[in-house]
Amino acid sequence: MRKFDGKKLVLASHNKGKLREIAELLAPFGIEVISAGELGFEEPEETEDTFAGNARIKAHFAAKESGLPALSDDSGMSVDGLDGAPGVYSADWAETPNGRDFPMAMQKVWDALETKNAPEPRTAKFCCTLCLAWPDSHDELFEGIVTGRIVWPARGEKGFGYDPMFLPDGETETFGEMEHERKQAMSHRADAFRKLVSGPFKDL
Ligand code: IMP
Repeated sequence: MRKFDGKKLVLASHNKGKLREIAELLAPFGIEVISAGELGFEEPEETEDTFAGNARIKAHFAAKESGLPALSDDSGMSVDGLDGAPGVYSADWAETPNGRDFPMAMQKVWDALETKNAPEPRTAKFCCTLCLAWPDSHDELFEGIVTGRIVWPARGEKGFGYDPMFLPDGETETFGEMEHERKQAMSHRADAFRKLVSGPFKDL
């Protein structure tokens, strides 16, 4: 596994919620972090149907454009009663002509479960694939998950995306209700990050 030995890393995401969480997870490593948005990069089209495929597209695009190593995150919520949907299409389910609407996307998830009369508990998982790519096209992938169930009505104002409708296993608060630090300790992103830290970032 290739080690990260630079001082600067591009975060290949335009999602504010992800950027905040990844920047915080990276903070202890003393790496200078710049986002793809700050560098004026477009968002490449996510044309793959796997988290790994789309994570690769984003990280390689940012690494090539910047000439620096780049870290991307492709993630989403997969609901068992919906055969894994919205999954890699989690952001798409929120699209409207006026931007992303997550209360609407959460309602869609709930309505789809009701329409299918999906059995309780309505289990789900958040998945995250991190891709660390270098300008010479080498990359390393790290996958993380957190399992839980769907609750309705959605609860809490914290977090982002589908957080208010996701109750992690063993918890009483949804990701939308719990303190940010608690989500950061148990999330799919934190799980993938632990693997990154024990690999390319090991001796930093
Ligand atoms: P993408 O990785 O850019 O395709 O977008 C992933 C989408 O999944 C985000 O826009 C969110 O809707 C959702 N998602 C990913 N991670 C989280 C999370 O930690 N909480 C809530 N929603 C998330």
